[in-house]
Amino acid sequence: MSGKILRIGPTDNTSDERTPRSPLLAIPKTARRGFAPWLNPRPASGTGLLDLTHIAPGKPRAQGSAIEVSGRISDGYGRPLRRAVIEVWSANTHGRYAHKDDQTDYELDPDFIGMGKLISDDDGGYVFHTILPGHYIARPDIGRWRPRHIHFSILGGASRLITQMYFKGDPHNDTDPMRILMGDKWEALQVGKEYATADNTTDVGYRFDITVAGKDAVFFE
Ligand SMILES: [Fe+2]
Repeated sequence: MSGKILRIGPTDNTSDERTPRSPLLAIPKTARRGFAPWLNPRPASGTGLLDLTHIAPGKPRAQGSAIEVSGRISDGYGRPLRRAVIEVWSANTHGRYAHKDDQTDYELDPDFIGMGKLISDDDGGYVFHTILPGHYIARPDIGRWRPRHIHFSILGGASRLITQMYFKGDPHNDTDPMRILMGDKWEALQVGKEYATADNTTDVGYRFDITVAGKDAVFFE
């Protein structure tokens, strides 16, 4: 395709502008094989509560502290992003992902997959239950730990956003490379708005509102 201009009838010259001038580069294999979740085969929970603290009804509760996370997804104009597909994934209480690429020695919890999918409701709202993720060491060679965090992917409207939610007061927040990279954008990802949950199955709730576009968009990982 390099240098070849596609002409489709009368044009405003945008086809010229959009034609690559240089050969296309393949994305390196390592980058394509991102550390993305393999979502479990269960269907998305719809707009209701997604419960990741149990892998199936009747199974034991996952190890660790059960938390609720809720919030509202907004577009670049502050309007609710309805019916957005929200995917979340995180490490278990021991800091281990249920993923074949996580070959660390941290303990696996057979009752925690830590990945799921839900849909925002008519107000852009969402809510899920999960386990407070543990810390893990990302760079053993330099002793760098990742603070507790939950990964989010949001697909809705014209946007796809991938980001992470952090917990206020985490001792590893200040040295996190992601935090350093995002500068002032950090504040929006630091979840300190805790609330008491309405049920007695979770220990605490965290509110994480996410703007996916515009000047207030949260940091895209
Ligand atoms: Fe992570």
